[in-house]
Amino acid sequence: MSDRVQIVEMGPRDGLQNEKVSVSVEARIAFVEALVAAGLTTCEVGAFVSPKAIPQMVGSDQVLRAASQLPVGEFHVLVPNEKGYEAAIAAGAKVVSVFASASEGFSRANINCSIAESIERFKPVLARAKADGIKVRGYVSCVLGCPFDGEVKPSAVADVAKTLWDLGCYEISLGDTIGVGTPAKARAMLRAVSGDVSTAKLAMHFHDTYGQALANLYAGMEEGVFVIDSAAGGLGGCPYAPGATGNVATEDVIYMLEGMGVPTGVDMDKLLAATNQMSTLLGRPPVSRVASALNAKRRKAAKV
Ligand code: HMG
Ligand code: MG
Repeated sequence: MSDRVQIVEMGPRDGLQNEKVSVSVEARIAFVEALVAAGLTTCEVGAFVSPKAIPQMVGSDQVLRAASQLPVGEFHVLVPNEKGYEAAIAAGAKVVSVFASASEGFSRANINCSIAESIERFKPVLARAKADGIKVRGYVSCVLGCPFDGEVKPSAVADVAKTLWDLGCYEISLGDTIGVGTPAKARAMLRAVSGDVSTAKLAMHFHDTYGQALANLYAGMEEGVFVIDSAAGGLGGCPYAPGATGNVATEDVIYMLEGMGVPTGVDMDKLLAATNQMSTLLGRPPVSRVASALNAKRRKAAKV
């Protein structure tokens, strides 16, 4: 096990992209600021995608510009194609993320093209990013199962991961988009991918639909993967992945890591405050077990 784990905070992007309640740009900016103040200095803050596909991410340029004013932080945004890349760069992006799928069904549903076509769309993005000195992160979705195609072979994940790596992505984030994986499957998938991309360059992006995400992360850490994508409060989901719920909650990940003696640099009180503020706006309590437990403890303490 490592004594260093990097968290990539997903709340403002993956966390909010599936919400029915519209969250203002100002509230999204305040969320980013609160997360960074809590120590979550690597944060995905928006997406330059079709406003018809994901209206929740309209205004990502304003969120990115505001985030970029903060004294610390590395801010990521999703781009599906050159059009998104151009808009991201115009808003001052320094890190962009392209997103492919390991399964054809999800690729078609999410970005309206085959896996091979999506790679063709990413090629000019990566070429321009290289020329512009912009870092590109690569996602592979549906690494442990697809809502349309069912089982996904580890070799299929490895193929897409290798392609993105060879194109020049600095890190490959492996998404259990619908949160169906279990530790042995996660381990087998990571081993398959690590034949092509070093574990030091992999990230785990696990949704928690079936409550397995922490166990899967632990298995992944045992395999040598130490970058974790998570979302404050366990927010998240993808409108094109039926049945998927939130990302693993940042609070739950921090609690586990700190409990294992792995320092995270995250202030749990400040993180909880950021989560509670967003949860009030969304009109429902956070799904994070740790956030719920800490909120209950506080309510009890306030009564006595
Ligand atoms: P398309 O319809 O095939 O694209 O969509 P198109 O090129 O034919 O363009 C159609 C319209 O979209 C045109 O506008 C374009 O200008 C516009 P119109 O003429 O109809 O007014 N357009 C854009 N607008 C803004 N920004 C752009 C852009 N590109 C085209 N970049 C497309 C293809 C990829 C654009 C669309 O399907 C799309 O935006 N999909 C986004 C889906 C998405 O954001 N999903 C959620 C994020 S992925 C995720 O959550 C998984 C992840 O978390 C990892 C995991 O959990 O596994 C990352
Ligand atoms: Mg996701």
